[in-house]
Amino acid sequence: MIKAKGKVDDLVKLTTEEVKNFNLSGHQTVKSAAGIAHTRWATHGPPCARNSHPHVSSADHEFVVVHNGTITNFRALREFLKKEGETFESETDTEVIPKLCKFLYSRLPEPIPFPQLVCEVVKQLEGAYALLIKSSVYPGELVACRRGSPLILGMKYGVQAATPQTPNTPSTPLTPRFQGTCVGGPQYYENGQMPITNNNSQQGLELFLASEASAVVEHTKQVIYLEDNDIVHMHGGQYTVYNWSDVDSASVEVRRTIQTLTMEVSQIMKGGYNHYMEKEIFEQAETVSQTLQGRVKVTPLSPMKYAVPGIDPYLMPRVRLGGLVDHIPTIRRSRRLIFVGCGTSYHAAMCTRQTMEELTDIPVVLEIASDLLDRRCPIFRDDTVFFVSQSGETADTLRALDYAKASGALCIGVTNTVGSAIARQTHCGIHINAGAEIGVASTKAYTSQIAAITMIALVLSEDTISKRVRRDEIIDGLCQLADCVRGALKLNDQIREMSEELKDEQSLLVFGRGRNYATAMEAALKVKEVSYMHSEGINAGEMKHGPLALVDDKLPIVVVATQDTMHNKMQGVIQQLMARSARLIIVCNEEDEEMVDMVGGRYPLIQVPRVDEALQPVVNIIPLQLLSYHLTLLRGYNVDQPRNLAKSVTVTEE
Ligand code: AGP
Repeated sequence: MIKAKGKVDDLVKLTTEEVKNFNLSGHQTVKSAAGIAHTRWATHGPPCARNSHPHVSSADHEFVVVHNGTITNFRALREFLKKEGETFESETDTEVIPKLCKFLYSRLPEPIPFPQLVCEVVKQLEGAYALLIKSSVYPGELVACRRGSPLILGMKYGVQAATPQTPNTPSTPLTPRFQGTCVGGPQYYENGQMPITNNNSQQGLELFLASEASAVVEHTKQVIYLEDNDIVHMHGGQYTVYNWSDVDSASVEVRRTIQTLTMEVSQIMKGGYNHYMEKEIFEQAETVSQTLQGRVKVTPLSPMKYAVPGIDPYLMPRVRLGGLVDHIPTIRRSRRLIFVGCGTSYHAAMCTRQTMEELTDIPVVLEIASDLLDRRCPIFRDDTVFFVSQSGETADTLRALDYAKASGALCIGVTNTVGSAIARQTHCGIHINAGAEIGVASTKAYTSQIAAITMIALVLSEDTISKRVRRDEIIDGLCQLADCVRGALKLNDQIREMSEELKDEQSLLVFGRGRNYATAMEAALKVKEVSYMHSEGINAGEMKHGPLALVDDKLPIVVVATQDTMHNKMQGVIQQLMARSARLIIVCNEEDEEMVDMVGGRYPLIQVPRVDEALQPVVNIIPLQLLSYHLTLLRGYNVDQPRNLAKSVTVTEE
């Protein structure tokens, strides 16, 4: 067992040293059919080797566990186990699990199969977990299980083992409760030889367990998305999936559908860019097009122009969302549309709220997932609740989904991850199709989320005659969006230079109003999360109610003032800031001569292409994403791995 604090590279170095210490060489083989590893998100106890996984039952390592999630009743279990004589090395919630395995095992009147033991253990756990467990008392076996935290099983057939497949020890016989045939392939690396990947006729099976698809896609595209209470048993060259029920405590073997990942390995590579964040920012012209593909008639023409004689052109829908068609009448009858998300996904909902209200005339409520849960916000069966999440695995959003489902409301997912928990557990939904997003800072998912939610608003208003003209303007805007994004990306050099001027600042304010309040919030989130510069998004309508006190000639302020219905008001804001000698950077449209005259060369302008105001925030955020990217590099930080953050936040507070 090798543990290190810091980056995976540090672990690699340490492992190399350990290999030398044990006098091992690449030509020797280690007798082990299964290995487990983990990168830890610190929830209990600081990041250090002692708190890192795997955790063990004792110095003898009878049970070894890695865990993603949070065990909420760990204190009670810890106290109980201490009274039973156990001692704890770490400050983690996880350590109770191997100790509990050992405790229950030692009290068994006779041996039971490994998955049955694990089932007894997890029945004692409250909270969320995805667990991988190995044991010296069940050699050659591995058990994995989940509840509330994501876990997928990948399988790769046709892998040849170097020697015949003979298990180290026979797999423990199953009791009737667990009996069943294997769902997996015939062979497994029980002898610990390194597998040789080729097309040889031997149908060896290599199995992978991971919390998300991008971790396994380079090995296999055949995966099973495990469900809550699933227990996977790998033994004797095969695997079996069981599911245990809370109600009668019984476990039964289940068959889960093997799915083929649509993700490509190229999506998880940097493809010529230096960083994932950079790649994902520059991909956005393509990714917004992907979001629209097959859903919007990509002709930048109003319906009259492509009318078929004899057919009312307005009866030809220009937007179609297959995942929602059956539910449109229910959504239209809703009392409220509630949008739930966290971080960037919440901002995408915030940005599209006005379009949704404008086109549907249904009140739209925005909820930060954790806050909705904290307040136990009332939700009714005639509400429709949208869950916006790039990963589809964010724990707070998932808990909010459980909560909303219990109220009987229609629950709709807007996610980027096919097969994710939110995609599976909502009643219906749409995928934003932005492709795998690897950078911790969400960029392309944000712009695609805005495009996707805008399409939902368009579909919901399809039968409203009074909205036809407005709908067509927005659809034409969608058709122009990729080109406008491309135009905004050309500002990269200007933004890099601007970042040089700003890199040593302590703080950056971003002002926006209307839909661009979301732009301000999202830009500030990007800047703080990767460059560690304090940044705050401010609704310009609130300026006089406090933030104006901060204004002086030193604090840099980005003002988003593109030509939408807020333009006059934003001009007023700029005038007031200029009157106080503020240090401004203004985001405006390319042909906004009024702005050029007003500013008179005093301040730098970031001039972006103009598109329909419902979509202008998609274009406006691009230079601000670039700003956060360049600031981070210039300040010397790792743009793809900001400290203390994870890509998918699959843990929630206790
Ligand atoms: C944004 O850059 C973030 N890293 C973060 O705010 C993220 O958007 C949030 O955690 C929600 O994630 P999700 O979209 O995967 O649910």
